[in-house]
Amino acid sequence: MDNRRIGLFDSGLGGLTVMKELMRLLPSESIVYFGDTGRIPYGSKSVDTILKYTKSDIRFLQDFDLKMMVAACGTASSTALPLLKGQYDVPLLGVIEPAAKAAAGVTKNGCVGVIGTAGTIASGAYKRLLAGINPDIQTVDVACPLFVHLVENGFAEKNVAKEVAEEYLEPIKKAGADTLILGCTHYPLLRKVITEVLGDKVTLINPGVYVAEEIKARLTEADQLAEVPYDEQYSFYVSDDPAGFVRLGSVFLERPISGLAKQVDIEQFTE
Ligand code: DGL
Repeated sequence: MDNRRIGLFDSGLGGLTVMKELMRLLPSESIVYFGDTGRIPYGSKSVDTILKYTKSDIRFLQDFDLKMMVAACGTASSTALPLLKGQYDVPLLGVIEPAAKAAAGVTKNGCVGVIGTAGTIASGAYKRLLAGINPDIQTVDVACPLFVHLVENGFAEKNVAKEVAEEYLEPIKKAGADTLILGCTHYPLLRKVITEVLGDKVTLINPGVYVAEEIKARLTEADQLAEVPYDEQYSFYVSDDPAGFVRLGSVFLERPISGLAKQVDIEQFTE
């Protein structure tokens, strides 16, 4: 047993979709979440900036006694993590590998769609990994930057989201992908609209589900699962006013988080 915490970070509140899956699969773990709400979005930033922000997020989390760190952000995972391999004592996981493995295992026709932020798609991380797992897989990837704004502004299930999805998903539909990786934290909230556009025969891969499984497997293997009492389990830190995070975060997490979020000056942790 190991009751130390798991540290999760994201560019904002989107990583709560990953945290939700982790809480569902491992309800006795203690989790500290950092959302860089003051510097979101990461998805449209340069590699250097994403790397700098990711390093500071990790530096902040290192102040806690952690047994594992997770980049719950598609952009940080795809862009910064490959450059940070082996630099930390605490194991550091991202969302890309578990999702790519899942998609490669699910596809029947060998055509996998990937959607994510501009940064995630430009990194080519999914394409590389999928080709490494199975060179016969054809990957069709599309950056969908408007999706984040639609979700954060409450339009996830409105007609405008469907219209935007029809435009973005056209190349994936045309290629006949039978599997689609939702490669950005916000996209699981667009599941309904995406299924309306692509049809229900396309399997949607939510990376949060698979990273949670990977965490469980690793902790089980290392005999590091926790037994933490319910009311001591979760804490949240953000780099901007917690009010917005608490309001929208409860929608992402599907449970109230009021009173649990604190503000941190992330610049203090930035090189
Ligand atoms: N969390 C980011 C991701 O999953 C989306 C928001 C952003 O661009 O920072 O890539």
